[in-house]
Amino acid sequence: MKPFVIALDGPAAAGKGTLAKRLAAHYGFAHLDTGALYRAVGLAVLRAGGDPTDPQAATRAAETLDPASLADPELRSAAAGDASSKVAAIPGVRRALFEFQQRFAAHPPTGSGSVLDGRDIGTVICPEAPVKIFVTASAEARAGRRLKELQARGEAAIYARVLEDIRARDARDAARADAPMKPAEDAVHLDTSDLDIDQVFDRAKAIVDRAI
Ligand code: C5P
Repeated sequence: MKPFVIALDGPAAAGKGTLAKRLAAHYGFAHLDTGALYRAVGLAVLRAGGDPTDPQAATRAAETLDPASLADPELRSAAAGDASSKVAAIPGVRRALFEFQQRFAAHPPTGSGSVLDGRDIGTVICPEAPVKIFVTASAEARAGRRLKELQARGEAAIYARVLEDIRARDARDAARADAPMKPAEDAVHLDTSDLDIDQVFDRAKAIVDRAI
């Protein structure tokens, strides 16, 4: 039987990551945070003193990505977040990461299925996924959540700047020519602006249980 795939897409800080972890734990599925791949590539370019918008430097970093770097706590920094959406617009980077993601979904390292969260899972990576959820929230709600996350990491962040960064990242992710962020036609939309994590989980679980 083909492994089951739950595709979660949506903009930055909409709550995809937390939801993906909860769903994976509940169903015993493997979880792949695909944003971490782009963050790791962005961070590798920055650390090498390169420019994340440089196609050659970014593609090379994606082709030589060390899976161990996916556990680097610096991936969650504002600088890595900014660099990630720059490298994500480069076709060579997306090509290099495509196979890794498809292999993960086809052969989940644990369990009989997987949860992948990102921007193009339902449209490009796993267009045949039986469950596709597009997780959204207002830019203000997302900026509030990201601010708390950055402050918890000890970063000196201010709300207005975080909101501006979120809007800039949304615009870059939606406007790029290669695999832009957009809901798959058959995705279920889930707006988390006014929901807490338990409510988000319950709604997503109901969607998955109908398909499983
Ligand atoms: O989800 P997260 O904020 O960690 O993703 C970081 C960046 O990686 C996004 O802003 C986006 O540009 C890129 N990304 C992508 N495709 C994915 C996952 C993330 O382009 N599937």
